[in-house]
Amino acid sequence: MFSRLAKSTTPVAAQFIANGGRNISTSNPRNVKVAVMGASGGIGQPLSLLLKHSQLISELNLFDIVHTPGVAADLSHIETRCKVKGFVGNDQLKDSLKGVDIVIIPAGVPRKPGMTRDDLFNTNASIVRDLAAATAAVAPKALIGIISNPVNSTVPIASEVFKKAGVYDPKRIFGVSTLDVVRANTFIADAKGLDPAQVNCPVIGGHSGVTIIPLISQCKPQVQFPQDKLTALTERIQEAGTEVVKAKAGAGSATLSMAYAGARFTFSLLRALKGEQGVIECAYVKSDITEATYFATPILLGPNGVEKNMGLGKLSTFEQELLAKALPELKKNIETGEKFINK
Ligand code: APR
Repeated sequence: MFSRLAKSTTPVAAQFIANGGRNISTSNPRNVKVAVMGASGGIGQPLSLLLKHSQLISELNLFDIVHTPGVAADLSHIETRCKVKGFVGNDQLKDSLKGVDIVIIPAGVPRKPGMTRDDLFNTNASIVRDLAAATAAVAPKALIGIISNPVNSTVPIASEVFKKAGVYDPKRIFGVSTLDVVRANTFIADAKGLDPAQVNCPVIGGHSGVTIIPLISQCKPQVQFPQDKLTALTERIQEAGTEVVKAKAGAGSATLSMAYAGARFTFSLLRALKGEQGVIECAYVKSDITEATYFATPILLGPNGVEKNMGLGKLSTFEQELLAKALPELKKNIETGEKFINK
C-alpha cells in the first residue's frame, strides 16, 4: 500500500509511506478523526487495523452493533498515536460520529455463492440509510466513503438521505470502487510480468458486474493485449468479487483486499484533507459525465472532497461498447436506490 502511494506524493508523504506511517513528525500536523461504521466485520476489522497504523489519523471511532469494545481494546494497544474508541449499538451511534472528518461505511451483510450484489439490497439499503441519517445529523460536513454493497444503489441512498436532511453536498459522498482498480492493476501486472505497484489502470462506471469498466487502453504503463485476452481480462476484473465469493464457499466475500482498498482510498482522502495536491482516485460519485447520474471516474481529491472530476478520457471502441452495456444497468441500480428513500 505504502509503496503504491509513494508514486505521486510529496517528499513528506513519501517519507511517511516509507516509514509505514510511523515515527515521522510533519511540519503541520492536523488532528483528523475517522469513524468506521461496521467496524467488527470481515472488512471493518482489517480496515481499522490499517487505519490505526496511519500517522495522519489522531482518533479512530469504531461503531458496530456488536463487538466493538473488544475490537477497540485490542487495536488500542498498537504503538501508534491514533486513539481508538469503540461504540456499540444504536444508543451510541450518534456519539461515534461526533466531530469526525471522514466516515467509512462497510456495515452490512456480504454475499454468499450464487448471490449478486443486488441481492444484498433488502438488508443493506436500510443499514446504509440509517447510518447516513445519523451522519447527516451529527457530522454533515464529513467526507463519506461507502463500501456496503450494492454500492451502485447505496451511494444514491445516502445522497437522498442527505438531501432530505437539507445538508447534501455531492462532493462529499463517495462509493469506494478502489478495489476494482486494485484488481485491474494486479491482473494486468500478472499478465505482463510487471510490478503491480507500478501499474495504474483506471476503472470507471459502477461497482458490480457489467457496470465495472476497466480502461485498459489508458493503463500506465501502456499495455497491449489481443482482443480475446482483453475480453477475458476485462471479464475477470468485472467478476473478480465473485471469484472470491466462490473460493470462500459460503464464508463471505472479499474482506482483506477490500480492507486494503478501503484503506488506500481513506489515505488518499486524508492526504487531500491535509492539502496535498494532485491526489487522484477513481470513485463512484454524483456525476454529469454520462447519462447515469452517479458514475465512477478518476477524481481529483481536495480538502472538501471532489475537487475536479477528471472524466472519461479517450475510450477505445471496445470500452465504448462496455460503457453502452453498463449504462442501462447502472441507471436501474441508481433508480432502485433513490426510490427506496423516496417511496
Ligand atoms: N450498523 C453498524 N454495523 C452493522 C449494522 C448496522 N446497522 N448492521 C450490521 N452491521 C455490522 C455487522 O455487525 C458486522 O460486524 O456490519 C459488519 C459486517 O461484517 P461482515 O458480515 O463480516 O461483512 P463484510 O464482509 O465486512 O461486508 C460488509 O461490505 O463489501 C461489502 O458486500 C459487502 O455489503 C457487504 C459489506
